[in-house]
Amino acid sequence: GAPLDVAVIGGDGIGPEVTAEAVKALRAVLGQDGLTTTAYPLGARVWHETGEALPDGTLDDLRRHGAILLGAIGDPSVPSGVLERGLLLRLRFELDHYVNLRPSRLFPGVRSPLDVARVAPDGIDFVVVREGTEGPYTGNGGALRVGTPAEVATEVSVNTRFGIERLVRDAFARAQARPRRHLTLVHKHNVLSYAGHLWRRTVEEVGAEFPDVSTDYLHVDAAMIFLATDPGRFDVICTDNLFGDIVTDLAAAVTGGIGLAASANINPDPAVPSMFEPVHGSAPDIAGQGKADPTAAILSAAMLLADSGRSAEAARIEEAVAADLTSRGAGSRSTSEIGDAVVRRLA
Ligand code: IPM
Ligand code: MN
Repeated sequence: GAPLDVAVIGGDGIGPEVTAEAVKALRAVLGQDGLTTTAYPLGARVWHETGEALPDGTLDDLRRHGAILLGAIGDPSVPSGVLERGLLLRLRFELDHYVNLRPSRLFPGVRSPLDVARVAPDGIDFVVVREGTEGPYTGNGGALRVGTPAEVATEVSVNTRFGIERLVRDAFARAQARPRRHLTLVHKHNVLSYAGHLWRRTVEEVGAEFPDVSTDYLHVDAAMIFLATDPGRFDVICTDNLFGDIVTDLAAAVTGGIGLAASANINPDPAVPSMFEPVHGSAPDIAGQGKADPTAAILSAAMLLADSGRSAEAARIEEAVAADLTSRGAGSRSTSEIGDAVVRRLA
């Protein structure tokens, strides 16, 4: 078939270092002829040079690729939110990446801060299906009387039936394909009643199409207790954009840390590129030192392969990463040493 056509946005901080290792892994499983990559040097430097985080022409170019691999966005030299909103969220919104998929799996040999033998004897293996285009992320809000004692700030959470329904249906389909076939809705309908009830009703109604999937509901605060005390109970967690952001950082922490957590921003329409990125940020404090763990980026590349129908190749990368994690000693390896070790296992 045609080579996989991947746009690579290394981004800021450790982003370019970890995506380089992910590209190596892709090339190792796809071969020289199976992959074409196009680098897009977006991030803080382009913003400083042009005043634009994502020029319209670049967005049009990105749309023409099969998939996007992204490292990390954010730099201390740029005001908070400018690159996050102008680049990362703009990509998610413009490309309508409504399924933000974040698997959490405790790999053998990886240490969790939890006493796993006690709290999750059968292991930890769940996936968060986070809504990616709505909630408080839409930028609806404003500030009044800024700088005065009477200052008011609002951030409006946008929740549409259309947006929730398509996400919930996707989450049910994913739950149905997993052995345990269980979906947990995480929200806060005791306080966020308008959105909460819309989410709950939608899960009930869409759930009727999936009678073999069991469901439950947890308020987000209680869900976090279970994530720390009984993470093995979760299979598929379906939640909104902001809750999903927070839940997936704790989920990463209990499964070995943010250095291992992969994610996919999916638009199921094959004509639109989905985007794959580690959950972690740009970590400017360790940028350029070869200290970053590229595992999350490599596992994100595996998600890219799976999403493009190359599930055998995706599984090969996952197995190579799993083997690498199992055999990790106490010594620390550089970013490229870890990438090379994974690539050797793929050879
Ligand atoms: C993430 C990040 C982003 C988010 C930020 C950088 C906009 O925290 O991918 O989890 O909040 O979605
Ligand atoms: Mn986050």
